[in-house]
Amino acid sequence: MSAPEPQTAPPAEQGAEPLPVVVVGAGGMGRAWIGTVLRSDAVRLVGVVDIVPGAAERAVAETVPPQRREGVVAGTALAQVVEASGARAVVDVTIPAAHHPVTTEALHAGLPVLGEKPCAATLAEALSLAGHAETTGTLFMVSQSRRHNPHLREARRLAEELGGAGVVTTRFSRAPRFGGFREEMAHPLIVDMAIHAFDAGRVLIDADPVSVDAVSANPPWSWYDGDAVATVTIRYASGATHTYTGSWCSPGEETSWNGRWSLSCPRGTVAWDGDTVPSATGEDGQQLPGRAPGAEELWELDASLDAFARAVREGTTPESEVHANIWTQAIVEAAVRSADAGRRVTLDEVLDEALAEAKALDAAGGWSSALTTWENGASGLSRVR
Ligand SMILES: NC(=O)c1ccc[n+]([C@@H]2O[C@H](COP(=O)([O-])OP(=O)(O)OC[C@H]3O[C@@H](n4cnc5c(N)ncnc54)[C@H](O)[C@@H]3O)[C@@H](O)[C@H]2O)c1
Repeated sequence: MSAPEPQTAPPAEQGAEPLPVVVVGAGGMGRAWIGTVLRSDAVRLVGVVDIVPGAAERAVAETVPPQRREGVVAGTALAQVVEASGARAVVDVTIPAAHHPVTTEALHAGLPVLGEKPCAATLAEALSLAGHAETTGTLFMVSQSRRHNPHLREARRLAEELGGAGVVTTRFSRAPRFGGFREEMAHPLIVDMAIHAFDAGRVLIDADPVSVDAVSANPPWSWYDGDAVATVTIRYASGATHTYTGSWCSPGEETSWNGRWSLSCPRGTVAWDGDTVPSATGEDGQQLPGRAPGAEELWELDASLDAFARAVREGTTPESEVHANIWTQAIVEAAVRSADAGRRVTLDEVLDEALAEAKALDAAGGWSSALTTWENGASGLSRVR
């Protein structure tokens, strides 16, 4: 089975003018994105959209400095704000249920999209968006901000020096009291948080994920309705494994938000606490200190936005383009199914089912037939990252 090259990069743009963008979704994360856009030289904020009347205007008033507000159009409808502002790209920071309609509308208007994780609310919707990106020939990149961490890249470099990561483990322990939707979800840890570690694992391991074994639980003292604790093992085609053990209700000895990592390699082990520079120990006990990132390095949202703007400008396919990101969402969906069913779940199983659903969704919408050429759920995806 060979995957086609992603077909979603738009033609290269002329000149180095900042890309005019509209931020859609003016909630907590939307405000963080407005700040990220404002401090970037590669893009320019020209619009903010939120479906709740007045929310976009409030976000602009509270986050955009007065001298920059005049050039920013606020409203409830994407098409109107794009028309009035001259936006040429979209940052989609809406709730997951809105990712599919918002991104579809933008792609069909010819606007490249940088969308917050998850790609979409379901794996079927995520595959449908890959089809819309193909049909429109327009870039859709998913922002998995935690993969844009220079320490994670350094951990990978150290692992490569030691022969490559083969046994990866992540320990995550926190005790946040969010309130709201996370405390009502069936699998808050796996769906809302572990997705970051699954995606980071894909940065560290050079292969496609193949299957998932997951066990989840909710301790008696948990303040979540759904399972706040899980152990998930992901097997890769190379034979590598990534085992994640996480808890969102473990006060006391908390890890960093990235978790604590160990990468076992043929000639040694890499250790990363998720916060500071990683280091490694060779098979002879020799210590290999990691390199600290340079002051010029971009992190997380800033790095993700920069990669997106560069890809739009140069007409290239960035990391985490939808065809590559779908592997991460497939791991999440397989983990939830494995935890619920008490059995190993292959990625082929969830991807094939999702492809059938996505084809039906696209046929009903009448906007995209690109997925009809996919032989199976994995055949259209890009390899590795
Ligand atoms: N990368 C990270 O670390 C991180 C952290 C938090 C949230 N997120 C992601 O960011 C996204 C937004 O999360 P949030 O915490 O800001 O949620 P939120 O509920 O605070 O905000 C979402 C906003 O989207 C608006 N909205 C909903 N449907 C819309 C539509 N069709 N058109 C326009 N606006 C619409 C809502 O009115 C709301 O203001 C989610 O996908 C979430 O998973 C990522």
